[in-house]
Amino acid sequence: MQSCLTCFEPACRAQFDINEVIYNCPKCGGLLEAQYDTSGIDAPALKRTWRERRMSNAPLEQSGVWRYRELFPFLDDYSHVVTLREGNTPLLQSTRAAAYGGLANITFKHQGFNPTGSFKDNGMTAGVAQARRLGMKRVACVSTGNTSASMAAYASAGGLDPLIFIPNGNISYGKLAQALEYGAKTFQVDANFDQILALVRVLTERLGIYLLNSINPFRIEGQKSIVIEMMDQRDWKVPDWIVLPGGNLGNVSAFGKGLRELHSLGFIDKLPRLAVIQAAGASPFYEYMRDKGQKPFAAQGHPETLATAIKIGDPVSWPKAQLEIETSNGVVESVTEQEIADAKAVIGHSGIGCEPASAATLAGIRKLKLDRDADVVAVLTGNVLKDPDYIYRYHTGELKAPDGSTITPTFGNAPIVVPNDAEKITALLA
Ligand code: F0G
Repeated sequence: MQSCLTCFEPACRAQFDINEVIYNCPKCGGLLEAQYDTSGIDAPALKRTWRERRMSNAPLEQSGVWRYRELFPFLDDYSHVVTLREGNTPLLQSTRAAAYGGLANITFKHQGFNPTGSFKDNGMTAGVAQARRLGMKRVACVSTGNTSASMAAYASAGGLDPLIFIPNGNISYGKLAQALEYGAKTFQVDANFDQILALVRVLTERLGIYLLNSINPFRIEGQKSIVIEMMDQRDWKVPDWIVLPGGNLGNVSAFGKGLRELHSLGFIDKLPRLAVIQAAGASPFYEYMRDKGQKPFAAQGHPETLATAIKIGDPVSWPKAQLEIETSNGVVESVTEQEIADAKAVIGHSGIGCEPASAATLAGIRKLKLDRDADVVAVLTGNVLKDPDYIYRYHTGELKAPDGSTITPTFGNAPIVVPNDAEKITALLA
């Protein structure tokens, strides 16, 4: 078997050429996934090769995505790759955060250390490489902010024109600023993420523009590298849990696929359990999985959360996410605005910091009451500076939830206005 695109639906499984510009199965409408001939994979040899590549000065080897390219070999020519040295994100520990989450230890895989400050870079370098290989000139996405920042950077770095569609007034300024600075043509649409995705799908089809949302299977292939790198950094010791926030559910789909492949190819000896955490006001997947078997999947018409990155009511990849949660014996949880805000402050006070959506992980861990000695990796998806407005409001007691209620600054740390007077400041510090 050569590389191909395969329909994800078990009843269909139709296969298509890897170079077809399709995002859903032309036969049944199902999601697509990339598949490869993996018969030549030698896990122990590749583990050594990947370690050796970390010493290299070659751009492709320095990328924390392309270093692992043998597990997503969809390109025939690596000159299509645009790398900003994505990936290479650290594993960080925090006693304070562990205690808050009811654990003895916790590890954060901090994707906010990426070039544009979020995990989207891992997938975007792959999606943009495929766009270039296909000879595309323009690429587009709808975004709650991080995808657009990442696509803008990678497309511009690769000589493509980025077109971005965002919900007007509903993404953080940090992310909007990145899109503008990286040179994307930016459209602010008076609609929510889910509605704009439908719009962008019409426009990309009509105008022959390449779509780089996570429905694009090559984005998912790139994001597999997050768990591959995580296992490499842990010397292939599998944690009990990997916890991540869920919005459009592309990332959990990528993690699950990557982990299943690592397992079946002999890189790891078991699967970790996956936990997806959603914001209570934007939790269609949580509700579906909670009532599983009783009701079909139902989109939420009016998702609401201050964690705008995950303000999504109709997640495209829910069928893939369901498979990964079930295969890994995982769970889905939802957390309130207050829980997200407090967990975020705890991660911040640990000296680590993250954006609001990322903090859903620690809030979820606390709520799930995991075994105290469990080996848990929480994925911080975005950088602390993505949404400084939220931070200032929280610490000064001005942060208001979408229903108008004030978020209590449980761990508030407001700035103190002082006179230019050593005596008075000394008295304050006494
Ligand atoms: N965390 C952050 C910081 C995000 O930006 C996103 C998604 C998620 C978590 C959820 O990941 O969608 O794969 O389940 N942001 C997208 C965007 C939707 O447009 O930037 P997911």
